[in-house]
Amino acid sequence: MDVELTHPIYDIVGQVADEMGIDAYAVGGVVRDYFLQRPCSDIDIVCVGSGIALAKEVALRIDPHKEVHVFHNFGTAQFTYLYNNVEWEIEFVGARRESYQRDSRKPIVEDGTLQDDQNRRDFTINAMAVCLNSSRRGELVDPFGGIIDLDRGVIRTPLDPAVTFSDDPLRMLRAIRFASQLHFVILPECFQAIQNNAERIKIISMERISSELNKILLSERPSEGLLLLYKSKLLSYFFPELENLKGVETRGGLSHKDNFYHTLEVVDNVARKSDDLWLRWAALLHDIGKPATKRFDEKLGWTFHGHEVKGAKMVGRIFRRLRLPLDAKMKYVEKLVMLHLRPIVIADDVVTDSAVRRLLFEAGDDIDDLMLLCEADITSKQEAKKKRFRENYKLVRQKLVEIEEKDRIRNFQPPVSGLDIMQTFGLGPCHEVGVIKDAIKDAILDGTIPNNRDAAWQMMLTLANNMGLKQVDSKSDDSIIM
Ligand code: CTP
Repeated sequence: MDVELTHPIYDIVGQVADEMGIDAYAVGGVVRDYFLQRPCSDIDIVCVGSGIALAKEVALRIDPHKEVHVFHNFGTAQFTYLYNNVEWEIEFVGARRESYQRDSRKPIVEDGTLQDDQNRRDFTINAMAVCLNSSRRGELVDPFGGIIDLDRGVIRTPLDPAVTFSDDPLRMLRAIRFASQLHFVILPECFQAIQNNAERIKIISMERISSELNKILLSERPSEGLLLLYKSKLLSYFFPELENLKGVETRGGLSHKDNFYHTLEVVDNVARKSDDLWLRWAALLHDIGKPATKRFDEKLGWTFHGHEVKGAKMVGRIFRRLRLPLDAKMKYVEKLVMLHLRPIVIADDVVTDSAVRRLLFEAGDDIDDLMLLCEADITSKQEAKKKRFRENYKLVRQKLVEIEEKDRIRNFQPPVSGLDIMQTFGLGPCHEVGVIKDAIKDAILDGTIPNNRDAAWQMMLTLANNMGLKQVDSKSDDSIIM
């Protein structure tokens, strides 16, 4: 079969390889994605000879000043190449034969043939090579039937899976990630080997694990990969909190739902509406506090009171362990986990202006994402219940728009600041300032006073007067009492 790879780098590599008298191939993901018609921006080149020498020669041909990054330890070299406004990463390696020691990912490497190189790759669909030399340009070298596996939609390893996974345990996660991204099936023998070797994931760094986890979350139906992570037992080694959601308990004939399956459904629901990774994370963690707050109450049955607060507190610990960013993205996930019940509570009751105003104030610009998460959270099997929630949510959304138009609460900044209060009454930071500030904020959110400076100022003066505070000349610094 002839494969027509079109990127200009292939012609240059082919020509240089011809001149150097070595064979060069495009290999791995780029060949797989060609057949799947998926976009890709990384190109891997393997040659039977020195990958570093070939990379340097090719780079010289493109631009004498081109920077080539050489990794002598791995026998690889890499540079970037701008084409069609995309920065392509071109990586070169010499064909190798590799063997690994049990407790390390550092392989013992020797020069090898193309077949040796293909043997040591992770999956048959990732082990296909396309020749770039002029005499065999476009020839597909596919010793393990990768093309058939692509067609059948299966994932399997070129060698005995126990060997492939033991060589690099990250591949167990990669198998699940590809299954999730491509809706492929992992062949039973291969999946069994993942279950048998799951514990070895411990030697892989958390950064690499969460990079795969994020790719699973970003796939079209993340539940496919998440379920496989659970079934393979891999999950328990890096994300036990998620596994703890699994299970149903029954007492006095009353059962609670299985929160693991419920979470998977919510993540899929969110994924249908949004590509945002962090919103998907919020969906994944929205009920993470449930196992720790589960109680059985004789009158109420199963309860999970405070699971949103407990869950929000767990986010930081989980993000830290998984080496996920601890910046605004984490704060966003915490906030959504914390607030995820609020719209339900509002929708379940009479939808008052003041409850909606408070929700807008706390969610700020994340209100639309929060509403999306809450709507995704309706997974009841009872159609009537689902319908009632959906209708109440419609009402909440309508009120959110009306109130935002009227009161501008979304990016609410109190019209009277703490500094205003301190300067007006000659105070330093103290309890009274907080009391006045909160009372004004509450009055605005409850709709007792309008959201403007005049009304807020008036209220400040009245409150301060009741507290016995005296106004001072704001220009005199001496009047500040600390
Ligand atoms: N590979 C491997 N074992 C790994 C990682 C990679 O055998 N643990 C091989 C596979 O042949 C893979 C190629 O190296 O196709 C390139 O790896 P990488 O760029 O990480 O992945 P891709 O397959 O290109 O897929 P993606 O870009 O989606 O990660």
